Amino acid sequence: MSSCPLPSRISLNNHLYASGVSDELRHLINDIARGGKYVQNAIRTTDLGLAGSSNTFGEDQLKLDVLSNRIIKEELCESRLVHSFASEEESDELQELVVNAPYTVVFDPLDGSSLVDCNLAIGSIFGIYESKGGLIGKKPRDQVAALYLVYGPRTILVYSAGKGAHAFYLNEVGEFNLLQKNLMMRDEVKTYAPGNLRAVVDTPAYRKMMNLWLDEGHTLRYSGGMVPDIHHMLIKGAGIFTNIGGSKYPKGKLRLLFECGPFAYITEQAGGASSDGTKSILDIEIRDLDQRTPIIIGAKKEVKRVSEVLKS
Ligand code: F6P
Ligand code: MN
Repeated sequence: MSSCPLPSRISLNNHLYASGVSDELRHLINDIARGGKYVQNAIRTTDLGLAGSSNTFGEDQLKLDVLSNRIIKEELCESRLVHSFASEEESDELQELVVNAPYTVVFDPLDGSSLVDCNLAIGSIFGIYESKGGLIGKKPRDQVAALYLVYGPRTILVYSAGKGAHAFYLNEVGEFNLLQKNLMMRDEVKTYAPGNLRAVVDTPAYRKMMNLWLDEGHTLRYSGGMVPDIHHMLIKGAGIFTNIGGSKYPKGKLRLLFECGPFAYITEQAGGASSDGTKSILDIEIRDLDQRTPIIIGAKKEVKRVSEVLKS
């Protein structure tokens, strides 16, 4: 019999352990979470509006997205579990770290960084693959885990390692504790988050979809940050988010590897769906690291309906 007292809180590490996640993957997720704490600290302490130039003392400041990229890279190096990584900040090639290490990590270190000066919520996104066989030819369904952090008034981390999606909040002593286990999306629209809306100019079917949402009286919930916008849906358990092709962005603005793949993995684990208009985002073959894809993600039936309207 264990002499440990019943825990008064469930830490991220505890949850990973109790869910039967392998020790190596548990370590890596903990290491990434630590990186996220340093990113949130950088966001809180960098002089607003001055990132990328010099601060009030005349010291040079790295742009926050560049700094976040460096923070995450350091964490991945230190973990010794990462064979290779690709970052949205330098997405041209896979960079190697430790030969024979088990994982390849893909990440967007600071998504929505253009919202920083407005003090809106932003986030970091991660997908974890086994390193064997590289990335090209694999699909986001091959991820062994995915997670994101949303830096808002509070910092929240959501992960899935294939057994549901679970949310944790960062407490005052710097630990992630369980906020909500098994996030569950219902088949309800309620709110819509229509990205790349400029596409209505040359994609009439998107305008038609937009009009349907307006006529049906749904509520718009769109901040322009993919992380808080999808997080909103996952926490409320309802909604639809789109970023489809048209106008300046023929395939939409978002990237398969760094943004859409991890969110598709987490959302499908929460009972929602994702699609590029034809098939699940999880079934798109990775052909290059920088590949973009249209994305429709959220409540299952609505993903299907939007896909059908967009084909019309
Ligand atoms: O990474 C790009 C990003 O900032 C996402 O966070 C967000 O969902 C998207 O751009 C917003 O796109 P748009 O400006 O087309 O609505
Ligand atoms: Mn991004």
